[in-house]
Amino acid sequence: MSAVRRTGDGRILVLGASGNTGAPLTALLADRGAAVRTATRRTVPPDGGEHVRFDWGDPATHAPALAGVGRVYLVAPVGVADPVPLVEPFLDRALRAGVRRVVLLGSSAVAAGDPGLGEVEALVRSAVPEWAVLKPSWFMQNFTGVHPLAEGIRRSGEIVTATGDGRLAFVDARDIAATAAALLLEEEWTNAEHLVTGPEALGYADAAALLTEVTGRPVRHVDVSPETLAGRLVAAGYEAGFAAALAALDTLVREGGQDAVADTVQRLTGRPPRSLRAFLTEHRDRLAVPADRPERPTRRDGAAPSGG
Ligand SMILES: NC(=O)c1ccc[n+]([C@@H]2O[C@H](COP(=O)([O-])OP(=O)(O)OC[C@H]3O[C@@H](n4cnc5c(N)ncnc54)[C@H](OP(=O)(O)O)[C@@H]3O)[C@@H](O)[C@H]2O)c1
Repeated sequence: MSAVRRTGDGRILVLGASGNTGAPLTALLADRGAAVRTATRRTVPPDGGEHVRFDWGDPATHAPALAGVGRVYLVAPVGVADPVPLVEPFLDRALRAGVRRVVLLGSSAVAAGDPGLGEVEALVRSAVPEWAVLKPSWFMQNFTGVHPLAEGIRRSGEIVTATGDGRLAFVDARDIAATAAALLLEEEWTNAEHLVTGPEALGYADAAALLTEVTGRPVRHVDVSPETLAGRLVAAGYEAGFAAALAALDTLVREGGQDAVADTVQRLTGRPPRSLRAFLTEHRDRLAVPADRPERPTRRDGAAPSGG
């Protein structure tokens, strides 16, 4: 989509606007001249647009975020086991305030009605007049950000998973953002879910080979059982439930349940998704531990189980 779009019915509210998808989405919408309001707890996105403090856990922040808003990019509460009690009153308020369209960041590994994010998806599908659910595969940013994968690569040159030879189509979060922008600005509308993937399905051994090539440092894939993986994550400081959820996602990959490539990015944005090779090459500097800076400790709270 290339033309500047009108949103017609009010501002676009971007939740999670400082995150992996929210930040590039905000920039894309601003580039297109859309009226955008960003909303996060702490971090103000760098675009200089309209920003409000928004906390899922503080309902007093919800009404100011929603005033004059017609469309919402919804990143559900991250790292919360049961997000529905937080999202449902927000959605009620949003619909009463005049919101017509919600683009929800879901996951390829989560079906509508599944516990947690899947329940949020079911809610959005049933309550919102115009809805879209993005179902991205695993983010390429897992190799570079705060994530067990990135930490393992930097620390020991190992990618430890329970995925076996299972494959998945890693996707750049910026391509998810571009897809979200297209949907938020679209004039003709059909309610739908959209599988969002990179251009090819790869195993973690393939990813390790690419990492070796790009960094010049040997990186290998170590396949372990889901139980061993969960134990390693707990030993590394992750909370037990989070560790188990990550291991369960790996099982899904191992069994072939994520071996799929979709044309969504090309179809909705008019350009192909970035390849993992291009992404890793662009972020080469973030894949190595600087010699003068010890790696920071792993987080106990963790981000939401990713890839789902
Ligand atoms: N990583 C993957 O491979 C993957 C794959 C598929 C789906 N997903 C899904 O993608 C979603 C986003 O995950 P992510 O790790 O990429 O996170 P993220 O979007 O990079 O970061 C979370 C964003 O939400 C904001 N936020 C966090 N807690 C908040 C709260 N209580 N109230 C208001 N805003 C809050 C954060 O800003 P502040 O901290 O400033 O508030 C930040 O902007 C998750 O639902 C995950 O399941 C991830």
